[in-house]
Order: sequence, then structure tokens, then C-alpha cells
Amino acid sequence: MDTLSVAAARMELAIGKQAMLQGWVRTRRDSKAGFSFLELNDGSCLANIQIICDGDLENYETEVKKLSAGCSVSVSGEVKPSGGKGQATELHAARVTVHGWADPEQYPLQKKRHSFEKLREWAHLRPRTNTFGAVARVRNTISRSIHNYFQEQEFLYVNTPIITASDCEGAGEMFRVTTLDLEQLAKKETTVNYAFDFFDRPAYLTVSGQLEGEIYATALGKIYTFGPTFRAENSNTSRHLAEFWMVEPEVAFAELPQNMDLAEGLIKRIFGDVLNVSSEDIQFFNDRIDKTVIETLERICNSQFERISYSEAINLLGQAETKFEFEPVWGQDLQSEHERYLTEDAIGRPVIVTDYPSTIKPFYMRLSDDEKTVAAMDVLVPKVGEIVGGSQREDRLDVLSHRMQQQDLDPEAYWWYLDLRRFGSVPHAGFGLGLERIVQFTTGMANIRDVIPFPRTPGSAEF
Ligand code: 4AD
Ligand code: MG
Repeated sequence: MDTLSVAAARMELAIGKQAMLQGWVRTRRDSKAGFSFLELNDGSCLANIQIICDGDLENYETEVKKLSAGCSVSVSGEVKPSGGKGQATELHAARVTVHGWADPEQYPLQKKRHSFEKLREWAHLRPRTNTFGAVARVRNTISRSIHNYFQEQEFLYVNTPIITASDCEGAGEMFRVTTLDLEQLAKKETTVNYAFDFFDRPAYLTVSGQLEGEIYATALGKIYTFGPTFRAENSNTSRHLAEFWMVEPEVAFAELPQNMDLAEGLIKRIFGDVLNVSSEDIQFFNDRIDKTVIETLERICNSQFERISYSEAINLLGQAETKFEFEPVWGQDLQSEHERYLTEDAIGRPVIVTDYPSTIKPFYMRLSDDEKTVAAMDVLVPKVGEIVGGSQREDRLDVLSHRMQQQDLDPEAYWWYLDLRRFGSVPHAGFGLGLERIVQFTTGMANIRDVIPFPRTPGSAEF
């Protein structure tokens, strides 16, 4: 007998098969005629499968009639056509094995719907709900889509380190990695001697794999990294996490326009794949979370992203009738209210903003001929704001060293990064796409804490 997923057993193709299904009971309903219906979910799809348990099952009175939400079971029997609406098939049980009970007095996920805030306290149980199951499946579809997009274009997947000594973004928002005994240090009040620390130097969790990505791109051409990154920024917003996943392609012999095409292509590919592969889940998000999700994804797949310079963006913001909390001024970073105005009100679709002032962007971005701006690009989307940040890289040794000094970074400490400009330097470009931001946009989920399995935010790392 085959073990089938609920997704497979729900297909008409499965009718007539003897099969075993394994999962968690969502509900049990008893009919007066002496048999019971179970709704079973195993996470393979959003929908449950209905299971008919006849009264003559060996353990009908002793076990089946005591099943409740959350109990785990294996059920074998025959897949038959179903008369019920919204389902082509159902399983007629010949045998029900109970693996684990879930006391209805204690199991929190009963009929009542809980708020997403409440469910964050139960991060160990929330994947058993419809919403979090759907988020997990869409996140998986997006990850696969990212790999496919780059692999099909012959990018090499490179694993960059998680522990690092350098601050890629130069913003000092890094978590320390140490084996020093902080409590002993606190007692002694001495200065820290890194000779006693694990790496003989200060070490951190990486904020980005870019610098190491550049090393591989300037040897192997087209690469991408895809992994966890960490930011110790104290921003308690619905779009920031302390630990998030980023995909970072890096391409040798490429300039800003190709970089923009690559990012636009990636985002459209992801939306197209999600609409195709995860249609049931996306319909759920459209029905329950955000009524515009499907229409928005389809529209973006079929439209060109607008491309404007930072200076044009500042002009648009200056002409806006909206009252902003922060006045838009040339030379200041765009606030999220500005980003949202540009993409939601002024333009109404994704926007790529380029050529930011050099003073508000990291040292590695290529200085333009005007010597005031850098070849930067941010992709902005409605509601979420910035979803991609990237640039053409500074490939000239002298300019790069100078930019580092301007930003109080010691070029000596980045000697290996500068070597890439000493030996066979090439124009190159890349970007970072935040995985959670794109999952958020795709699903319409309002808070980034609800699109990563175990969110890390200031003051919160329970699970
Ligand atoms: O714009 P960022 O900081 O760019 C970089 O780190 C570059 N080194 C990338 C590169 O060029 N290879 O971050 C890139 C993206 C952002 O656009 C956003 O989507 C996401 O990473 N991101 C965050 N996502 C969740 N929580 C945070 N705290 C994030 N910070 C950035
Ligand atoms: Mg950025």
C-alpha cells in the first residue's frame, strides 16, 4: 500500500487506490448514523482531506470517537470519490492508528481563531495553522524559484561565511561572536584582550555575504549567495528582523543597467512561479489576508519597473501634496514614508531608484563622474518599500581607498578586498534581495515576524 500525501490523495487520479495517510486531525464530527468524519491535514497542501470512519472499526468507540484537534494519526483505507463540495475525493478508513493525543483542555489550537500576535507566542505550534502552513509553503516556492532563476543562467551558488571580521555595510550594526567570558570581564573591568578570544580578533555575525561574493565573482564570473544575515539595528518595525535571509548575486563584467535587469527579472520570476506553483495558497492569502494580492502579482509580472534617479525622486517628493513627517531633502536618506509615496502614489508600481548621494551609501558603491552620486539601485515596492538594495561596485583602487578613509574604515583591514582591485580588476555589480520582504509582499502578510519561522527581533528570541 502506498503512503500518500493529502495533496496527492485529494486528486481524482488517486480514486480507487488503497493508501495510507499520516497527519494531524483538524476536526472530528460524529453522525447520528454511527460513523464519524475526520478532517486530516499533513501540511502538503492547504486543504484537509475528509476521512470516513465507520462504526465497525476495531477501535471506533475506544479511540476514534475520542480524537480531537491536534491528535496525530495514520489512516489506511480506500480513496473514493466524494459527494462533498470542494473535494473530489475522501478516504474510507479500514484502520486508524493513533500516535499521539492532544488534550482538548490544553491544546491551544482549537476552533477559535487566534491573532497573529498571540500565535507568535506559540511559534512551536503555529505552523499547524492554515496561515502559517501556507506561508511556509510559499516561502519554499520562492526559495526554489530563486535557485532555479540563477542556476538556469549558470550562476554558481557560493556559500559565504556567517562569522566575519569585516563590516560590509560599514554601519556598525553587528552582533559580536566571542568565547570570552563576559561575566569575568565585567568583574575585572579590564580592557578586552582579543589575543584570548577564539579568533584572536574581534569577530561578528555577517550583515551581508557581498564582499566574499565579490571575491568569487572576480574569479568565476557569475555567482550568488543565499543565506542568513544578521543586523543588530534596534528597529522594531514590521519590516525589520535581526536575523533574515538574503540572496546576493554578484556579476563580473556587469554595470548598473544589467544589475537592474537581473533584479527585475528575479522578482518577476518569483511572482510568476508563486502564481503557478502555489496557486491554492495564494488564493487563500487573497481571500483572507489581502484582497489585492493576486491582481498585484499578475500586474507586476506584466509591467516594466519604473526607473528614476534619486534626484528625480526628490523632485517628485517635493511636488507631492502629501504631508511627510520628514521633509525630503537632497542628501538625506529616503524615509519609508517617501519610498511608499513613490511606489504607491506617484508611480503605482515597482520603482528602481538609482544614483543616490555618495554620502548616504556604503564605501563599495561606484562613484559616478559627477563625484556626488554613486551607481546605487534600490527596488521599491508598494507597502513593503525597499525590497532590493544593490550597486555597481567601485573597481578603481585609488577611489575605493579614498572612499574607505572618508567613511572611517581602515583600508589595511580590507587588504584582501583591495587586492581584487590590484589584480585583474573588472567592472562588476550585484544586489541583495531580502527573502522575508519578498515573502511579505507575495503573501500580503503585514508583519515580517509572521513570514519567518522563528523571528529574532529586539528583546525576542524564545524559540
Ligand atoms: O540594502 P542592504 O543593506 O544591502 C546589502 O546588504 C548589500 N550588501 C547587498 C548587496 O549588494 N549584495 O540589504 C539588502 C536587502 C534590503 O533591500 C532588504 O530587502 C533586506 O536586505 N534587509 C532586511 N530584511 C529584513 N530585516 C532587516 N533588518 C533587513 N535589512 C535589509
Ligand atoms: Mg538598503
